[in-house]
Amino acid sequence: MKKIKVMSVLGTRPEAIKMAPLIRQLQQSQNFVPITVVTAQHREMLDQVLTVFKINPDYDLNVMQPNQSLAEITSRVLTRLDAIMSDEDPDIVLVHGDTTTTFAASLSAFYHQIPVGHVEAGLRTWDKYSPYPEEMNRQLTDSLADLFFAPTPLSRDNLIKENRDSDKIIVTGNTAIDALKETVNTNYKHPVLDLVQPNHRIILLTMHRRENQGNPMISVFKAVKAVVERYQDVDVVFPVHLSPKVFKIAQCVLDSTERVHLTAPLDVIDFHNIVSRCYFVMTDSGGIQEEAPSLNKPVLVLRQATERPEGVTAGTLKLVGTQQEEVEAAMMILLDHQVEYQRMAIAPNPYGDGHAVERILQSLQKYFANYEE
Ligand code: UD1
Ligand code: UDP
Repeated sequence: MKKIKVMSVLGTRPEAIKMAPLIRQLQQSQNFVPITVVTAQHREMLDQVLTVFKINPDYDLNVMQPNQSLAEITSRVLTRLDAIMSDEDPDIVLVHGDTTTTFAASLSAFYHQIPVGHVEAGLRTWDKYSPYPEEMNRQLTDSLADLFFAPTPLSRDNLIKENRDSDKIIVTGNTAIDALKETVNTNYKHPVLDLVQPNHRIILLTMHRRENQGNPMISVFKAVKAVVERYQDVDVVFPVHLSPKVFKIAQCVLDSTERVHLTAPLDVIDFHNIVSRCYFVMTDSGGIQEEAPSLNKPVLVLRQATERPEGVTAGTLKLVGTQQEEVEAAMMILLDHQVEYQRMAIAPNPYGDGHAVERILQSLQKYFANYEE
């Protein structure tokens, strides 16, 4: 069989973490010619992941600008990918998730009439502004895609509801769980953990979404501050996203609070290991909602809606919104009530078994074998 030329396009930290296990397997297999393109929609946060997973991109579009607008990212990616698509002419372009890189790379592939494989396809809130712009990025990407790697049966059902061809949808599990197999270890140390008394409970916090920047973020951070001041055995570790809008609010509300440790973004090995040592997680991140349940950690989701309802149904995620009183109440339930804590901590993880990459590679081979017949 002819080797299949697969171009993976990624731009941000979460795409890199979840595509890394797939890119590595593509590189090791005899059946594929892998091409890796990074848009560098994120610069430092992307490079952190590429370094950890030892991925050397073939092309780097270097698009990031401070405070970049969505239109700027889209237009820079489209323009800079154009010649690469023509020169490389891959058999398929793989994109991941719901970022502006994901959508712009899918559109570029479509303009070149190259098939698109969407990894983590079919997640939906059905609310175009929540999360914004990710919900529309994933709907638009699925309109352009030819192969759908759905992480769960529910994401498959969402695609079927949109009349996508069921033969082209493969339920794979999430590649985030494949990545976790490489990062978590038992003998782990980090300077931020040395700042925490051994008998203290750690809450791991992240928050960055565009729709939460401003008042929602201020009110969540005030809740965190109030709870930490009330519970003397609680520390918060908050790796702050490099977006200046997030950084400013975090510094303003939390910087001088005792037992709140603001850090730079952690590399993925540090982050996964600190998740595995924390008491619970608070986040508006997508990927962390999938990872923490694998490590038996309850997650308070700082959003109005989630495209990952499987975790809410399983009992491992709780949607708490961003109102100060509600966030404080949810934190105190987990800190005070062991039964509720245990119920969330031991709930099963619905996001996969760590074999998503194998299923994606098998489906790619099957797709192209059928194509050649
Ligand atoms: C992007 C994605 C979001 C994803 C998030 C993961 C879009 C529209 N948003 O949001 O879906 O959840 O990444 O973190 O695609 N910055 C740096 N260095 C970095 C990364 C970011 O300085 O390594 C700063 C820059 O000033 C940049 C800003 O952060 O302009 C915002 O980055 P951007 O990619 O536009 O948005 P995110 O909020 O990171
Ligand atoms: N992550 C990391 N370092 C951090 C915070 C998060 O490596 O300081 C990882 C986390 O384990 C997950 C991914 O980044 O795999 C999530 O990325 P992010 O929250 O930026 O984006 P989202 O998933 O919301 O799109």
